[in-house]
Amino acid sequence: MEASMLEEVVQNPNPYPIVAELAYPDIWKLCEQARDLAWDPAKLDFSDLRTADIPQEVRLAGAEWWSLRAWMEHGATPYGAERLRDAIFGHQPFEVKQHVVNFIQEELRHHEASFRIADALAKYQPVPQSDYFKKIIPKFHDEKEERQMSFFAGMAVNTLFEQLSGELLQARYENAKFRSIREACALILRDEARHIQFGRIVMRRFFDQITEQDKEMLGKKFAKKLRGSLLNGVYAVVNLPEDERKRSARARALAAEYGLGATHPDHEVAIIAEGLAKIRADVAPWNVPIPPIPEVEGPTNGPARRAA
Ligand SMILES: [Fe+2]
Ligand SMILES: [Fe+2]
Repeated sequence: MEASMLEEVVQNPNPYPIVAELAYPDIWKLCEQARDLAWDPAKLDFSDLRTADIPQEVRLAGAEWWSLRAWMEHGATPYGAERLRDAIFGHQPFEVKQHVVNFIQEELRHHEASFRIADALAKYQPVPQSDYFKKIIPKFHDEKEERQMSFFAGMAVNTLFEQLSGELLQARYENAKFRSIREACALILRDEARHIQFGRIVMRRFFDQITEQDKEMLGKKFAKKLRGSLLNGVYAVVNLPEDERKRSARARALAAEYGLGATHPDHEVAIIAEGLAKIRADVAPWNVPIPPIPEVEGPTNGPARRAA
């Protein structure tokens, strides 16, 4: 073996102890469900989309929309990869590592189902056409921000977003008129329900050990990510620059009008507001203060204003 390779080996963190003893039966239950409810996007039949009698303009709008969904689902995988590394070298028990592996696998199959839909409608776009999306999408996952939080606190913040995207996905499922899109959305929703459940378990198990200061930081990070990136064209178009907002909103509106599993831009903010209200209620028992989100809740509806 070359000396330089040897150096690389010893630089790896110590993997021992590799914990096999079950510590969190509720997390293991999610792992069992994930195994029982596995599905294969390549086996879904998208022929109804290929043969649908819809204008080309609508096909292109739908392909853009489902490409965006594919990029977003893919955005969860680098985050998952970092957490898997943390879980392994943080000596987490087997069920925690298994959950993170499942999370990565599931987000990757949501990505796959989405690009297959885009392809069946017209063509999947591997790179966004707009410069704006090219710039903003790589910023969705900021590992520097993640590193400021403990492993479980960071996972809990992530699942708050799972909850919001679950609410939007539910609306998109209800919008879908095509069998294959409905089926894909239902299967994705079933996976997301487990991701949300994991967040609830984490909060229940770990949030009473977190300091008030850390809770404040969690709330701030949640608000920052929501406002800074997810309202910029992924969850909703409200924070996009004017010209991009109009173009993006038109494509979404068209996809929604034809029942391609999209949300109309005029309805997205209301859905997010409802989701946000549920999240505030969920984190209330642990006193995690989420700053007001004026784009979604209006300038006077945030808790800070209410308290004033
Ligand atoms: Fe997903
Ligand atoms: Fe998810």
